Amino acid sequence: MGKIVAGLGTSHVPAIGVAHDQGLTEEPYWKPLFDGYGPAREWLKKIDPDVVILVYNDHGTVFSLQSIPTFAIGVAEQYKPADEGWGPRPVPVVEGDANLSWHLAESLILDEFDMTIMNEMDVDHGLTVPLSITCGHVDKWPFKVIPLAVNVVLYPPPTGNRCYNLGRAIRKAVEAYDEDTRVVIMGTGGMSHQLHGERAGLINREWDNRFLDDLSKDPERLRKIPHLEYVRETGAEGIEMVMWLVMRGALDDNVKEVYRHYHVPASNTGAGLIVLENDA
Ligand code: DHB
Ligand code: FE
Repeated sequence: MGKIVAGLGTSHVPAIGVAHDQGLTEEPYWKPLFDGYGPAREWLKKIDPDVVILVYNDHGTVFSLQSIPTFAIGVAEQYKPADEGWGPRPVPVVEGDANLSWHLAESLILDEFDMTIMNEMDVDHGLTVPLSITCGHVDKWPFKVIPLAVNVVLYPPPTGNRCYNLGRAIRKAVEAYDEDTRVVIMGTGGMSHQLHGERAGLINREWDNRFLDDLSKDPERLRKIPHLEYVRETGAEGIEMVMWLVMRGALDDNVKEVYRHYHVPASNTGAGLIVLENDA
């Protein structure tokens, strides 16, 4: 049987990937951020999952304004780091788990979540930066990864509640899988940031930390947050946080927060990280 053993939420700021790749993590600007990643890396090493379901968004890399699915799932054996304009990041190719991917795709679609099936997909910073944050420099990623992309780029994105319910359906699918597979689910993006216009640079520490609090204390409140509140309170790109609710929905009703890190600024973003375990 498959089992979702834990969840992790993290920001996926591209500049974090650049700082990591260029060895800038001891610089005064980056050190306080990267120092906070150590305990999460140790935790993940101990948990040692077989597979990570990584919920992220593509940033105009594979999808474009011509065509963008609300939810897409990778079913490939491998995913190449994408060239986002400066060449691909110097990180390992991402190994998939096609068998579990197809099982998930079937279960989710029969559960009435209309997933787009991606036989081929390069993965951008939305996916590779969380891997670097949680694994550091490695020759090979220590687990298989199933990319699950959510549209948060072109209006209208799915609601937080829809994302939470997708998480529920993912858990049901994983538990019906016939191989012993230990799964960690990651939700990425956010926290508060706005990259353009008059409010560029907006960061709302208080709102971000209430969101982190309520992942364990009151997820029912988070399910009901409307798009307008994310955008008003946390900036246009703060909407990426709906992806953390896919992760939260895949966990038990009661979860234990085992680690949190929040740092401002990371580029234009309030950078958050949280580790949640089922509170059996
Ligand atoms: C930044 C953050 C993001 O999530 C992103 O996709 C691009 C840029 C930033 O803060 O610079
Ligand atoms: Fe992003």
